[in-house]
Amino acid sequence: MALQNIAVLGSGIMGHGIAQISAMAGYKVILRDIEKQFLDRAMEKVKWSLQKLAEKNKITKDQIEEFYNNINPVTDLNDAVKEADLIIEAVPEDFNIKRNLYKELDQIVDNTRVIYASNTSTLPITELSKLTENPSKFIGVHFFNPPQIMKLVEIIPGTDTDNSITDKITDFVKRLGKTPILCKKDVAGFIVNRIFIPIVHEAVYCLERDNVSKTIIDSAVKYKLDFPMGIFELADYTGLDVIYKATYEMSIRDKKVIYPNPKIKELYDSGNLGQKTGKGFYEYKGEKYERINLSEEKALEYDPISILGIATNNASWLITNQVCNRGDLENALKLGMGLKTDLFKLTEKFGYQKVIDNLNKLEERFGEFYHPDEYLLSLR
Ligand code: 3HC
Repeated sequence: MALQNIAVLGSGIMGHGIAQISAMAGYKVILRDIEKQFLDRAMEKVKWSLQKLAEKNKITKDQIEEFYNNINPVTDLNDAVKEADLIIEAVPEDFNIKRNLYKELDQIVDNTRVIYASNTSTLPITELSKLTENPSKFIGVHFFNPPQIMKLVEIIPGTDTDNSITDKITDFVKRLGKTPILCKKDVAGFIVNRIFIPIVHEAVYCLERDNVSKTIIDSAVKYKLDFPMGIFELADYTGLDVIYKATYEMSIRDKKVIYPNPKIKELYDSGNLGQKTGKGFYEYKGEKYERINLSEEKALEYDPISILGIATNNASWLITNQVCNRGDLENALKLGMGLKTDLFKLTEKFGYQKVIDNLNKLEERFGEFYHPDEYLLSLR
């Protein structure tokens, strides 16, 4: 049976964004959160986003109302899921919150019929699936911020996920106008976060080691590594709470994935979460997201080779371990993080040997995290 009714649980940035694109693809969507004030805020953001898309002629003026009305915001969980064919869970990244939610869901839905899809960015899909009574109908669907714009959706089957569910969700993601990329193994960080989260930490180490400013590093990331944003800018945009929680989850799963810098926890503990709180690595004034003033001139002052090295080394790890192939990896970085140049092509331009030498030097000083992966070594 084709999917028709979608319930999105959690109305934060990801939840309301997923609800919006599902509504735009013609699905009937129920958006659920625990308090009405969260839903009101989410629906305001949906309206803002639809208006933006209409201003850019991506949708018509009439469609603003049509798509908006395709989303029904509710607080009652039973009302949210009673008719759903697919439940997309986008609640906070906390194992206990998710455990309690799945327990409740199992009591009210027919889990032999309904698919559970988690938008978790780092929690292990197989472990999450085992919190439910029917792990064969459980899958990871990882969207990127902002979901309305970023084209990538990582699809992560758990070890018990039925192949027919993976196929169904792949079709669903295509119908949303997104590009599904299969993450073949349920590894910490999946594909993009395995690269993104460690380079945020590396950028902080660069700041401390090389005694340069954030805007200089960010300018170099933007203009020499061809990112759409600087890395501190992107961390603030994503939210330091998201980065911190992802760091924590990834590092407890696999100590070698990340070399955590204490600054991230400090920012998280002090409530400086980035743009949404007015302060993170940078300071912000308004509600609307602000871009940091970066320039090609400032980029000349810094060589971001360590940041590139960590990105390429972790990308190599994904290839060596057959989590994805090189084509899918490059595509994921383009569609999920807006990278304008292939990561490996860029590394070749910097010089594979130079990047490896730099990793070796860092390994001597700071340990195994920097050890060059065998795929990267094979390229020199
Ligand atoms: N809906 C509709 N329109 C939106 C929007 C939304 N949600 N968000 C931004 N826009 C609009 C902007 O308002 C702007 O409109 P304007 O020109 O009228 O002001 C327009 O889109 C384009 O934005 P900008 O010109 O400011 O900037 P860009 O062209 O750089 O695009 C961006 C913005 C798409 C955010 C781009 O900078 C980008 O790709 N940045 C990288 C984002 C990224 O890496 N995301 C992934 C983070 S990792 C993640 O999500 C995983 C998680 O698990 C941690």
